[in-house]
Amino acid sequence: MTNNFLLGAATAAYQVEGNNHNSDFWIMEHLKNSSFKEKSGEAVDHYNRYEEDIQLMKKAGMNAYRFSIEWARIEPEKGIFNREATEHYRSVLECCHENKITPIVTMHHFSSPQWIIREGGWENEKIVDYFKNYCRYVVTELGDLMEFICTINEANMRNELITVMKSFAKSLGINIQVGVKLQLPEEMMVGQREAGKAFGGIESADTFLSPCTPKGDLLIMQAHEAARDVMRTVDNRFKIGLTLSLHDIQIVGNATEKAGEMWDDEFKHYLPFIEKDDFFGLQNYTRTLVGEEGELSVPEEKKKTQMGYEFYPQALENVIRKVSSELNLPIIVTENGVATDNDKDRVTFIEEALSGVKRCVADGIPILGYMHWSLLDNFEWQLGYSKTFGLIEVDRKTQTRKPKESFYRLAEIWEKEIER
Ligand code: BGC
Repeated sequence: MTNNFLLGAATAAYQVEGNNHNSDFWIMEHLKNSSFKEKSGEAVDHYNRYEEDIQLMKKAGMNAYRFSIEWARIEPEKGIFNREATEHYRSVLECCHENKITPIVTMHHFSSPQWIIREGGWENEKIVDYFKNYCRYVVTELGDLMEFICTINEANMRNELITVMKSFAKSLGINIQVGVKLQLPEEMMVGQREAGKAFGGIESADTFLSPCTPKGDLLIMQAHEAARDVMRTVDNRFKIGLTLSLHDIQIVGNATEKAGEMWDDEFKHYLPFIEKDDFFGLQNYTRTLVGEEGELSVPEEKKKTQMGYEFYPQALENVIRKVSSELNLPIIVTENGVATDNDKDRVTFIEEALSGVKRCVADGIPILGYMHWSLLDNFEWQLGYSKTFGLIEVDRKTQTRKPKESFYRLAEIWEKEIER
């Protein structure tokens, strides 16, 4: 199994391609009251430079690449599929195969076509059919070059945002009712109203990065199942899974119940919808300490990443073990990484994380692969280009790639681990 282990890095279309004009976040970035720190612009021009990037991966000894297809390029208007964009992704897939890189294709990584948002976004039941139709189209056209498919990236993200909002509201002394639309503070409502207008006069822009109602949480699962099932009818060779963002939840004091609730919210309640998948996409960046009242802040003395998370690569092993004790599916680590400007720290992070993966493999846990986040420094959504997760630095003026030491170390570290 270790010989076929998929080792590589991950990106997401919107964060690296550039000029995704038809995507919802393009509108969100350009609002006067935008919550985005800066605009994505040309990003790191991966749309035009994918060949160079894939060849670099091969040079570094990687054998897999997780990337996403931008729905808004493929289906810029409802039911109208774009031939040129489809052919572009065919070329990307072909380039992977020519370089002996196994593609792991994500169908949805946070960004959606603008028309989806105009139609009620991720809170409208129609999303299930819309997503299914798009996935069917993609695999009908490109499925001959695909095997591993992630339907939806971090399908629990909208639900996680509810928790973040709730604790934010609590800090402002506001109460939030579950199941109804969030009533945000006025400053934030201004942005919401502007977004609604920009999408053609809708009440609120329900993008994938806005908090959801319980109905919205369920719709994501229904969209996943519908897409998975229809793609299987096109080709039963596909290996299909969904990805979730998971924390290594650690109990401090008397918090077993609270930690249980958090794990249920983040992972367990999704089990019925993913048990029939072919693999599980596990994404982890850090641990969360939980006390009786909920999440605790990172202790002062702990080392933090640029994101403010605790630098804690050991979290990955703990989460893999927990997931595998509750879900009987092969696992692909579809994201794991660290935002830092100190590449030595990234190397240490990778060493720690991969030794954990290796211990899990040795214990018989079926892990198919590890994709480091991220291949390139890129557009970190609302935080713009300020956070550097990449194995490769990019000079955005010239779009020159400068691989960091960690880029070449990733495969070396894994191989050393194998020899042990
Ligand atoms: C997302 C990526 C993001 C990364 C680092 C994950 O939640 O899938 O899009 O850039 O974490 O924050």
